[in-house]
Parts: sequence; structure tokens; C-alpha cells
Amino acid sequence: MSEPFSYPPFRPRDNEQNPPEPAAVQALKSSLFKCPSCSSNLGQPTEGQVNTYQCANRHCFDIAKEGYVNLLLAQRRRSTKPGDSDEMIRSRQRFLNAGYYQPLADAITQKVQQFGAHQRVLDIGCGEGYYLQQLRTSASDIQLYGIDISKTAVRLAAKRKLNAQLAVDSAFNIPLIDSSINTAISVFSPISAIETARVLTPKGRLIMVGPGAKHLAGLTAHIYENTVPHQGNPFNTTATDSEFNLLETLELEQEITVRLSDIEDLLKMTPYYWYARPEQQQTICALKELTTTVHFVIHIYAPKEAADLSPIADQ
Ligand SMILES: C[S@@+](CC[C@H](N)C(=O)[O-])C[C@H]1O[C@@H](n2cnc3c(N)ncnc32)[C@H](O)[C@@H]1O
Ligand SMILES: [Zn+2]
Repeated sequence: MSEPFSYPPFRPRDNEQNPPEPAAVQALKSSLFKCPSCSSNLGQPTEGQVNTYQCANRHCFDIAKEGYVNLLLAQRRRSTKPGDSDEMIRSRQRFLNAGYYQPLADAITQKVQQFGAHQRVLDIGCGEGYYLQQLRTSASDIQLYGIDISKTAVRLAAKRKLNAQLAVDSAFNIPLIDSSINTAISVFSPISAIETARVLTPKGRLIMVGPGAKHLAGLTAHIYENTVPHQGNPFNTTATDSEFNLLETLELEQEITVRLSDIEDLLKMTPYYWYARPEQQQTICALKELTTTVHFVIHIYAPKEAADLSPIADQ
């Protein structure tokens, strides 16, 4: 009869008898990013693996060659490719680069400049970086931050070489430390009032842009029999009153004429592409010119706790 099976007696391996000395804690150049695993600050090693962000608990995040970091942990992703589709993002980049929304970009950059010099500005849902580019062109002294949940968008933004700190992550879990940002902007992107208020300084400002009632009416006329006016800014309808005071509302409205392939890009950068029937998509894309109103509503908010609602001068 064979011996009954038993485990051999436990004998630690050599390296367990003499565990290696922990490596010396590396010097880290601090950043405003926080670790998505443990929420402690992330820094960049000053020597060795300089192309990573690390926290004190040694969680590491590589900086991609284009110069952005992906802080969106796999377990927090709701889909394998969250955010806008690559086609939407590339269409939006071509359309915006053609200058159709320049008046909106100018209004945003002017507002940011009014808030003072040497600011830290965060674009929440920055997409492929058009507004970050406009901000950089308008002022070299601002420190730019951008986040978007789409990796493709953040990669394209990084390729603009704006000297901006860019991360893939969610607006509902902004990967920045508390009170680190002077001005946040959100242009047609999802936003969390609580998270945005958390990262703003007490005297910070939020510039939020949404569609006005007549936005793209000339496009939607090709899709809906009765043009449905835009419902305005979704931020207003959520329970955010406890976080922000509305300081100012600006409206920008003008007619633009979109030409040739820019029409297809305009359609594809909006959800209207999915609402349009295939024959409507074809008709719109075959147009030589499309004249439409663009209508933007710009809300300026201050965090509710801010004691002083006068313009910022001393941040
Ligand atoms: C309509 S686009 C606007 C992009 C840019 N602000 C612009 O105006 O060009 C909305 C953007 O929000 C991003 N997005 C969607 N959900 C998000 C989330 N939870 N957190 C951060 N970004 C998100 C999309 O990937 C997309 O780039
Ligand atoms: Zn960590």
C-alpha cells in the first residue's frame, strides 16, 4: 500500500530567510495628480524611471510617449472604450480646427484671462484639446490640465504639444488633489459638481458651456420634422445648488455656413448622426453648404463656500 500523501515540511526559500533590503525611497518631483489606487499624491521620479508617475505606496503609471498618463483603472471602466467614439473625436478635431467655433473659443479665453494671470486651468472632458490649444495660444503663463475618459481624445490632445498635464480619467473622479485648480472649464462634456468643487480653490471659477435652444437648428431641420429646442445645460437640472453659485450667464449666437466635408464632420461629431436615418445622413453629407445657427450658453460659477465673489486677483 502506498504512503498516504502529506505535504513536505515547510522550509522557507533562501530569499525569504533573508528578505532583500527595501530599495531606498526614490525622490519624486511632486505633481497635482493623485493616485487612483490609494489617493496619495503622484510624483515623477527625478532619476531612473522618469517616465512614470508613482505614489508613496509604489503604485506606478507610465507616461505615454505622447506625454499623457492613463489613470483610469480597468475596474472603473464601464466599457472597454469609454467616452466618445474615435470617429466622433476625429470629426470634431477637423471641424473645430477649421475655426467654426472660434467665437466661443475667444469668449472662453477672454474669461479665463479676466480671472487673473498664472492660473492653473483644468479642461474637464477636454476632448482632443482644441480649447486647451486656444488657451495656450492666448496665454503662455497658465498651467494647463486636461482630462477626458477617451484615451484617443487625450492622445490627440497630447499630440498638440501644449505643455499641458493630460490624463485619461473620469470627470466623476477627477485625478487631481483638492483645491489645486483656479479655473475649470467644461465644454459640452459631462461634469460632476461635487468633484469639480473639490478640485477648485475656494476662489476658483467654473466656466461651463452648453447648447442654447437654437444650437445647430439648421442641421436638425434636416433630421426632425419639428425642430426640438435644446434643453439647455444638464448641469442646471442636477442637484448641484449646494456646490456652486451662478455668477453670470453669457449667450453667444451667430450663423455659420459650413462647407463640403466639414458638414459630414459636424454631423458625425454630434449625437444627431445616430438620430438621423441613413437617407438623412446621406442627404446631409451630400450638401455643398449648410447654414445654421450656433448658440452657446456660458455659465460662470463660483464654489459655494467662497466667501468673496469678487473677481479673482490674488490667486
Ligand atoms: C461633446 S465632447 C466635448 C469635447 C470638448 N470639450 C470639445 O468641446 O471639443 C464630450 C467629451 O466628454 C468625454 N467624456 C464622456 N464621458 C466622460 C466622463 N465621464 N469623464 C470625462 N470625459 C468624458 C468624451 O470622451 C468627449 O471627449
Ligand atoms: Zn497609490
